[in-house]
Amino acid sequence: MRSETAVAIRLEDYAPAPYRISKLFLDVKLAPQATVVTAELHIERGNATKAGTPLELDGDGLELEGVQIDGFPADPAAITATPDKLVLHSPPADPFVLTIRTRVNPEANTQLMGLYRSSGTYCTQCEAEGFRRITYFLDRPDILSVYTTRIEARKSDAPILLGNGNPSEAGDIPGTDRHYAIWHDPFPKPSYLFALVGGDLAAVRDTFTTSSGRSVDLAIYVEHGRENWCDWAMDSLKRSMRWDEETFGLEYDLDVFNIVAVSDFNMGAMENKGLNIFNDKYVLADPQTATDQDYANVEAVIAHEYFHNWTGNRITCRDWFQLCLKEGLTVFRDQEFSSDMRSRPVKRISDVRLLKAHQFPEDAGPLAHPVRPRTYREINNFYTATVYEKGAEVVRMLKTLLGPDSFRAGMDLYFQRHDGEATTIEAFLACFAEAAGTDLDQFALWYEQAGTPLIKVDCTYSEENQELRLTLSQSIPPLPGQDETDPNVIPVRFGLLGEDGKDMDLVPTPASDVSGDMMVLKQRTQTFTLQNVQARPVLSLLRRFSAPVRLDFDQSKQDLLFLAQRDSDPFNRWQATQTLATRELIRLAGDARQDKALLPDVKLVDAFGETISDTTLDPAFRAQTLDLPSEADIARDLGKDVDPDAIHAARQALRKAIGLQHHSALIGAAQLDGEAFSPDAAAAGQRAFANRALSLLAVADEPGTAELLKTRFDMATNMTDRISALLMLVHNGLHGSEAALAAFLNRFQDTSLAMDKWFMVQATAPKEDAFDRITALTAHPLFDKTNPNRLRSLVQSFATGNPTQFSHASGRGFDFVADMVLEIDNRNPQVASRLLTSFRSWRALEENRAALAKQALLRISAEDDLSRDTRDIVDRCLQ
Ligand code: ARG
Ligand code: ZN
Repeated sequence: MRSETAVAIRLEDYAPAPYRISKLFLDVKLAPQATVVTAELHIERGNATKAGTPLELDGDGLELEGVQIDGFPADPAAITATPDKLVLHSPPADPFVLTIRTRVNPEANTQLMGLYRSSGTYCTQCEAEGFRRITYFLDRPDILSVYTTRIEARKSDAPILLGNGNPSEAGDIPGTDRHYAIWHDPFPKPSYLFALVGGDLAAVRDTFTTSSGRSVDLAIYVEHGRENWCDWAMDSLKRSMRWDEETFGLEYDLDVFNIVAVSDFNMGAMENKGLNIFNDKYVLADPQTATDQDYANVEAVIAHEYFHNWTGNRITCRDWFQLCLKEGLTVFRDQEFSSDMRSRPVKRISDVRLLKAHQFPEDAGPLAHPVRPRTYREINNFYTATVYEKGAEVVRMLKTLLGPDSFRAGMDLYFQRHDGEATTIEAFLACFAEAAGTDLDQFALWYEQAGTPLIKVDCTYSEENQELRLTLSQSIPPLPGQDETDPNVIPVRFGLLGEDGKDMDLVPTPASDVSGDMMVLKQRTQTFTLQNVQARPVLSLLRRFSAPVRLDFDQSKQDLLFLAQRDSDPFNRWQATQTLATRELIRLAGDARQDKALLPDVKLVDAFGETISDTTLDPAFRAQTLDLPSEADIARDLGKDVDPDAIHAARQALRKAIGLQHHSALIGAAQLDGEAFSPDAAAAGQRAFANRALSLLAVADEPGTAELLKTRFDMATNMTDRISALLMLVHNGLHGSEAALAAFLNRFQDTSLAMDKWFMVQATAPKEDAFDRITALTAHPLFDKTNPNRLRSLVQSFATGNPTQFSHASGRGFDFVADMVLEIDNRNPQVASRLLTSFRSWRALEENRAALAKQALLRISAEDDLSRDTRDIVDRCLQ
């Protein structure tokens, strides 16, 4: 591996390319170790480009076999070719055809970027900069070209040949064992959306008729034998297509839509035009091997990639700084889709949980960056929770502030005005400003400033004036490279609950910036006054989590308990319980550090009893309420001097108290209904509730619990129940866990998506003796380091899902992960650098652990042949 001194790329340096590539013809002769790619690029000089300006094409590790200009071999003196660049020193002044022949080795491609093989299938991943590993190109998203691709392979190797766009021709090559297929994509696209697939795959087919009556052939390609696991993905695809027509008026635009599932994939999935390529864990779903969460993920990721067809493909990004233009918007769209398919409040709760678990810590540590970064050294390190999840929150706030009608008008204008373009956040926002007749200059700060705003709340009630005064002050804590910030526009939805628990009418004074149930906070400090408030109300603030902020509000326990039971906003009912539990867990963690007895608050423990027995509530909602803030949540809220053992002890103590106090109610709640399996949200909610109840019983560990769990494991009729029973057995070290692990292995050893869960359960066990088991598992015959899913299931889930063992006081957890990062970095930099980000909150740890984490980081940093990806993360973690 080359050691790279990466240069910082800056948004402010953006300049259009001097040349355009209007169309290209690719001829790809697939062979395992020597695939020959002939690219015919139709190149035009930009209007402002002087004749003779050199043309510099990007490459990455390419082997050049030949270059022709307008059909004649290029003069070797007129070009410079290295594996990473092809320069034409003085290109023709008029449009010309540049033909480039390269040779690539798919089998040796362990980075899984460009053209590679996954279980014998040829496939590609080009976002962000993988196309340059196939041929020399202006590999940047503002170069839009019409692609025609001819793929050729041995018939026995690759009976299926797929490309972008529509199929236009296919046939055998007479006298050989080879065949070919030609695909034409009429929509100009950037190179990162290029894809091809060749392999021996089974197809599951269906059709979809668009709103204007066009018929689209749909297909999902999977390994033979997996055809029956595609029903849910296909169903999700058809629902996504219909939803985008109904919700945004967006119709599909090609004759075919193909999805291919592969088992070796660096990320979730990829929206290549007309040919989405997926990590198979987001396609395959079967009750015996997929959990309810897997079903929900398949639905969401299928939708996400499909929605990219308009937000990403028809309208793409001018440069990679604009990544959130497609990702934040598309995550928002897939969240809305799932909300419409499932319970909206429960979906909101789980999205906010995810945001707080992944994005908030990122935004509070050394890897913090604005939703639209201003600089990067390696773009692959910016496919982050901030770009995706906070990016979606920003779009959601836009809708909240403008209202649904203006939001939709802005979206319509965006599609109308920018279809076929590579554009920017400014252009996107301008559509909304224009459609709503408003100014979004201050709103744009959400894209510019890193860090989670903190809102300090001060609330005074005057009985005499019947007035409630709410003073909100916003600030962003200083971050590396960002000391001062300007105030954001923050929509704060709220309600005032009367004694009867009902929402009072909101009567703001004219000077208060309140519209409907929303305060619009624009200044650093702003006071909102509500009149005709007959009695001191209970304030419900930030309903539906209307902005990605933290609240500093000293609300009384009594008020929070009231909200937990009475708030008309289900999100805030859930939040009130979480807030109460967080406070209690922080108090208990403090006691644990001082070796005091851990005595959970009785009132709070009682309150959980009401959730357990309130059958009027949606079971999925009750499951969310019973799910206490995670150890990582508590660590994040503490923000400094974090002792993971104390947090773990505190959380166990509270869970145990709930399990003991409500034992019989939980036994009742843990019953399964015995109905036939269905993956729908209602049935999944029942299972979630029953298993959550069981998990509290497991911690309480009353006599008979281990037997109950083992029976649940043995009798499970689906993966959700089976894996949760296994996890409870293993994580609580209960009798029967070894037998259950062995039985699971025996049953699922040939099903890799199920085995990922087996590794994950062991990797996340919060136990002293788990560490030896985890290191031993790296030598297990089924532990394949070259498979990203398997690696994530053992090592990444250890680093992110096992705080007491990863941040172990001996430093062994840090060392183990650091060793893995170094080992993987040579082979797959993207996976290595992603794993390394698990160190991002190291400075918040108590000083001994922080020192050990720093040592591990310094050891990585001392390696001089790190990939650019890993170098970038380690440098930023240490900055
Ligand atoms: N665009 C893909 C998505 O749908 C993800 C691509 C990730 N690429 C990367 N280099 N990390 O979200
Ligand atoms: Zn995406």
